[in-house]
Amino acid sequence: MDNFIIHGGRAMSGEVRISGSKNAALPILAATMLTREKCEIKNVPDLMDIKSTFELLNYMGKKCFFGFNTFTVHESAGLKHHAPYDLVRKMRASMLVAGPLLARFKNVRFSLPGGCSIGVRPIDIHLEAFKKLGAAVSYERGDVILTTAGLKPARLKFRFPSVGATENLMMCAALLKGTTVLENCAREPEIEDLARALIQMGALVEGAGTSVIRISGAAALKGLKYTVMPDRIETGTFMLAAAAAGGTLKLLNTDAALMTPVTGALKKAGVGVISEKGGITVSSSGGRPRPVSITTRPHPGFPTDLQAPWVAFMSRAEGVCEVHEAIFENRFMHAAELMRMGADITVTDRKAVIRGVDRLLGAPVMASDIRAGAALLVAAAAARGKSIIRRIYHIDRGYEKIENKLRLAGVRIERVKG
Ligand code: UD1
Repeated sequence: MDNFIIHGGRAMSGEVRISGSKNAALPILAATMLTREKCEIKNVPDLMDIKSTFELLNYMGKKCFFGFNTFTVHESAGLKHHAPYDLVRKMRASMLVAGPLLARFKNVRFSLPGGCSIGVRPIDIHLEAFKKLGAAVSYERGDVILTTAGLKPARLKFRFPSVGATENLMMCAALLKGTTVLENCAREPEIEDLARALIQMGALVEGAGTSVIRISGAAALKGLKYTVMPDRIETGTFMLAAAAAGGTLKLLNTDAALMTPVTGALKKAGVGVISEKGGITVSSSGGRPRPVSITTRPHPGFPTDLQAPWVAFMSRAEGVCEVHEAIFENRFMHAAELMRMGADITVTDRKAVIRGVDRLLGAPVMASDIRAGAALLVAAAAARGKSIIRRIYHIDRGYEKIENKLRLAGVRIERVKG
């Protein structure tokens, strides 16, 4: 297993090109299951979750090619309708094929994703919504089986604005003749990206980015030629790394409009953020930031995926602040690791109280999920001395060529075999 070794405490500088969004690419790749025609998707980040999707689509009978950030999908023979445990356990987003396959073949079977280190993560919101469209749900040997004699468009309201459920239902409705109305939808920008892709395939989608989405589907959908939006979580991770380590870093190929909640919090903390067309420049003295409390919320609130890197940044705040995690019930695994680097954090339930310290010191630490890993990178870049980050396969799931990008930005980082 690989580890990262980082010698921290150096200011960051230069330019980093932001990759395409993982969380937008995953549902768009699942949407290729909706059509027999060829799909070509560009700006797809080369990272583990995309490789897992490649494996899943190939297993199900699609022919995929992936190179130079372009993912091409063909279909020549019949498809399997089963996403097995070995593929779903690697990546929960595998269940995004459920909506497209149910709509196209009237039955789908996928392994129940199960919990993960950040929480229980049930799928009841997805299943309730599929039932409203006319699916029957049963369970067998750890799999969920959805079947239907024929789905019908409906009006339904999610009990919580789940990102995955909104996407799954949008894809399912895209193949239903008639209008499906989804209420209390997630409003994340990645949902708007999926809507743009579905529209190109021939569905009519209105309201993506608001809490009510109307989808008028078609009996067959066309192929797709699409470029995925920039990754706002990768953008935020680099913004926070530069804010913590100090220096001036320009992020290219990204969109400042996606970053409003993070930019606002960074400015309050005393970090300079200049938003330009196609880029964002972050400048920080590398001194102690002002303490800024945040609560994670569904978009347009502060993203839960940047909560861990925010805690890392706030570890050196000049005072005390609180971070509330309102989305996932167990998303503070990074706190204990940051404390190994000298941070002073108390976690109770869904709240972390951070008493800023003057300095973080490099230490051996361990990533427990993608974003906890990102938090350790942020902390290690700012900390004095050497850190070793273990279990970086979590980081590799969600960040493309992260060590190359950090090195380009002035961080002394190397990947070594553990
Ligand atoms: C997506 C993102 C993930 C991000 C999350 C919240 C992808 C591939 N992943 O995950 O990076 O952290 O949104 O912004 O896009 N829930 C239920 N029942 C359900 C579904 C969800 O109780 O059926 C709960 C979850 O346990 C969680 C909350 O709702 O507490 C939010 O989950 P959801 O929005 O569905 O997240 P994902 O789509 O899994």
